[in-house]
Order: sequence, then structure tokens, then C-alpha cells
Amino acid sequence: MAVRTRSTDPAEHWWRTAVIYQVYVRSFADANGDGVGDLAGVRAKLPYLAGLGVDALWFNPWYASPMADAGYDVADYRRIDPAFGDLSEAEALIEEAHALGLRIIVDIVPNHVSDRHAWFQEALTSGPGSAARELFWFRPGRGADGELPPNDWKSEFGGPAWTRVPNPDGTPGSWYLHLFAAEQPDLNWNNAKVREELESVLRFWFDRGVDGVRIDSATMPAKDPALPSFGPDFTQSAPPKPHPFVDRDDVHEIYRAWRLVADSYPEPKALIGEVWLADPERFAAYLRPDEMHAAFNFDYLNCPWDAGRLRTVVDETLAAHAPVGAPATWVLSNHDVTRHVTRYGRADTSMGRSPQLHDAPADLALGTRRARAALLLNLALPGSCYLYQGEEFGLWEVSDIPAEARQDPFFFRSGGADPGRDGCRVPLPWAGQAPPFGFSPIGATGAPWLPQPAAWATQTAEALDGQPNSILRLYRTALSLRRQLPDLRGGAEFGWTETAADELLDFHRGDGFRCLVNLSAHPIRLPEGAELLLASAEMSESGRDLPPDTTVWLRA
Ligand code: NOJ
Repeated sequence: MAVRTRSTDPAEHWWRTAVIYQVYVRSFADANGDGVGDLAGVRAKLPYLAGLGVDALWFNPWYASPMADAGYDVADYRRIDPAFGDLSEAEALIEEAHALGLRIIVDIVPNHVSDRHAWFQEALTSGPGSAARELFWFRPGRGADGELPPNDWKSEFGGPAWTRVPNPDGTPGSWYLHLFAAEQPDLNWNNAKVREELESVLRFWFDRGVDGVRIDSATMPAKDPALPSFGPDFTQSAPPKPHPFVDRDDVHEIYRAWRLVADSYPEPKALIGEVWLADPERFAAYLRPDEMHAAFNFDYLNCPWDAGRLRTVVDETLAAHAPVGAPATWVLSNHDVTRHVTRYGRADTSMGRSPQLHDAPADLALGTRRARAALLLNLALPGSCYLYQGEEFGLWEVSDIPAEARQDPFFFRSGGADPGRDGCRVPLPWAGQAPPFGFSPIGATGAPWLPQPAAWATQTAEALDGQPNSILRLYRTALSLRRQLPDLRGGAEFGWTETAADELLDFHRGDGFRCLVNLSAHPIRLPEGAELLLASAEMSESGRDLPPDTTVWLRA
């Protein structure tokens, strides 16, 4: 079903300015009471999401999966995981969301599949030399008996990137590559069958009305087929160039082919990449006109709460995107990083995720104040914005999840040294005074799959709905205003105001809109004669000063 009027003007394509809300299904809403969120839970909350004022929903992988990495280990792309529902429910969800004006983005994982995927199971039973093994990276081990992994690559989650399998007769056999968990064997993109299959998966979901895909670990699918070790001179973080598996030139062929698929629909589908790259030019290469439409801005996510650094990252972002004509994106939280209320409440606000900072004290009141200011900043910058579920409730990172409840492979593969990402994945609090806070229905048989803090009684949708100045109300008001203001909604020109004080971000969009963010520790005088449209915090009594850690939208 088509959503709004189709536009043939590329400047008006929805993904260029959309606000996209990330739904982590497991933790969004549990309709059947087993303690795990599901599609029925999401469907029941679609009116809430439409009312919040977002334009699109991005779903983390909802496919059949043993959940070794929370669904990023896909066993079958054409089935919904039974814990979440089934295909007909996904189809109903897409249709209902469209009817409410919400677009749908699904997550596609090209780098790897689950070790339970039919292809990998066949590769195991077919044995060395088989065509089934050619779809993956099987190699004999080094050492006299092949007892050492084929090279020195490390898994992103810790430990070696190789696991040895027995031969079909039970004797120790070859090793397979997994850049993530052992349950996530890497696909061999030099094999035409892999390319065809993933393109067919795209069509499968596009044909069901999905409006775009988020591309997981998008820089990693292409490998140097020689699979060279880094050796003594290099490491994975200080690698040779070209890198044997990150951002290789031939990875772009994949996305050029995907773009043809996306463009083959009457209303083109959006490709949105998870592209973690420090080099702005290499990053922008993924956004060339025949590749992806947008990519997550992790430089912005990792930027400390500091005016100078933010100004630089905004300038660098816009400069990197301009030559390829792609829209910038603004994102502060997702399912992989520490919630930004916590980050912004720490002394060191610089890192999206840092195991070293896990126990650092966080002033949550300060973090919340800054998160509110950051929301108005993000929504005023040119491009599209990504929101992670629960940020509209001001949720903070849950840092005290007991070891026995943790589920993230980062935790297990580091022997517990890295607490992992569970703290940002705790089920949402919707209502009531105690867990499960309306996440699961009354009479649920299962507790929420990760424990919710009792202190979230103040952060439920219900509690926040009742307070005029709550963060949830701010999200609603800001999103609705952004839709109404042509300078924000469209591609109105962006520019800094020259006279800005050092610790002030001061910019305009078009002729009519101005945004100021005070990142200093003292109030800053507002410009004369401007009309206040929205403030992220209470203003000074005179209304003439902008308090610290506060953003205002002004009509210039
Ligand atoms: C990036 C995803 O966002 C993350 O959650 C996942 O663990 C890895 N890719 C591997 O798929």
C-alpha cells in the first residue's frame, strides 16, 4: 500500500528528512505474556507511534533466529521468529503502519547468517570441497595438524574469528570464518549464489510493502580472498591498506546491485547503511548516487557534549555528504550503544559505547537535561533523524543487570570483562508502578527477558503523559512542530550565525528559523525580538536568557 502521495522529485524523497524510530521488537511490547516483545505488541502500539509524530519505523531483525546475537544471526530470512509472531502478522503490521502514515524499514544482514541457516547446516554435512562450503569461508587450519586458526583475525566480540568443525566422519576438520560470534558464519560474497539470494531477500520484503532496508555491518561483506593475517606489523585496529575485510573497494558492487533492485519499484526503496568509518570520503563513497541513500552518522553519535566539537562534526558531516548529494543523518542512541541520557550525564561524554566507562558515575538529571537539548538540536539540523525506542521516556542505561541475566555475546566472549549491550535493550516501561510496567499484560507467564529497574516507575509512558513538561511531551511537541515548520521539514538552507559565543551553537534554517543551544555553564542572552517557538527546558523568568544545557527554536 502506498503511504503518502508519491513524489517523482528526488529532493522530496521521504528518507531525506524523515524521523525514523527504531523498534527493538524484543523489548518494545509483549502481547502474549512470555516476557519477550512481539509483533502483536508492536501492532497494538502503532497508534502510539503515529501519535508520537515519527515518519518511519526501523525494525531490528525479526527473522527466525536462534538469537545468539539477538536476531543478527538469521536462520531464515523469509520467516518471522516464532517468539515474535509469523509472516502474516508482519504483513498485517506493514499494512496497518502504512494506513497510519508510517513507513517500514527492515534490517538486512549481508555479512553473515546463523549457524542454523540451512546453507550452513548443509555445508557442515557436505564436508570439505563441497559447493555448499563455497558459500562460506572454510579453510584448513595452520600447524602440523591444522590445530591453529587459518589466520590471526579476531572476532568483533572478542576471541578468534575462526571456529573448527569436525569432518562428516567425526575427525577434526577445517575452520570457518566468523567476524562476529561463532554462531554467525560469514558469507562468501564472491559466490554468485550469495549475491542472488540476498537480492531475492530484498525483493521478498520490498514486495511485501517494506519501504527500505537498514544494512547491517555494511562495510564488511567483501573479503580479501587470500585471507591474509595481519602479521606482526599490523593489528585489526591499525591494519594494512587495503584492509582485508573492512571497506574494500569491491564491497560497493554489492550496493550498486541492491540500488538497482531498490530503484526497480514504482516508489523507490531506501537503502540505509550501518557504515562505521572514520574517513569522511570513504564514508561518503557508500552514498554515491548509485549506492545507498543514507548512512548512520556515528561521528555525531560519538561526539562529546561540547559546542566546538559538535560544530566541527556538523560541518564535517555536511561537507562529506554534499558532494554525493546524500542527506545527513543525526542519531544519538541505538541498540549497540550506551543510552545517551547516561552518556551525557558522565564527566566523559565522548563515547557511544565504552566498557571502561561502564561504571563511571552518571548524573542522570544532567544527562536528561542535555538529552532534551540534543533532541531539539537533532531535529533542527538538515537531514533525517533516528530515534531509539525509549529515548522519548528519558530512559537511561541499566548498568546493574546481573551476570546471569546478561545475553550479549560481547559479555560471554570477553569472559565478562565487557558488560556488553544489554543495558540499552531493557524492555520498555509503559505503565504502572512496578515491573513489568505494562510491557507484558496482566497475568503474564514470563518476566521481562531483561530485568527492568524499579526506578523506571517515573519513566513510564503513562507517568510522562500526565506531566506537561515531561520528556515524552517534548518529543511529541517537537516532532509535531518540525512537521509544521517548512524550514525544518524541507531542505531549507543551513548556516551558522557568525556572532555566536564559543559555547553556543547558533544556526538558522532558511530565513525564518533559528536554533540556539547553550553548552556553557552559565545563561546566555537571547537575541532581541525573536519569537520563542519551543524550549527544551524552562526559560529564565524574564525569558531573555537561555539557561545552560538548553536549546531553543526561534522564529527569526
Ligand atoms: C551491527 C548490529 O547493530 C549489532 O547489533 C550486531 O551485533 C552486529 N552488527 C553483527 O550483526
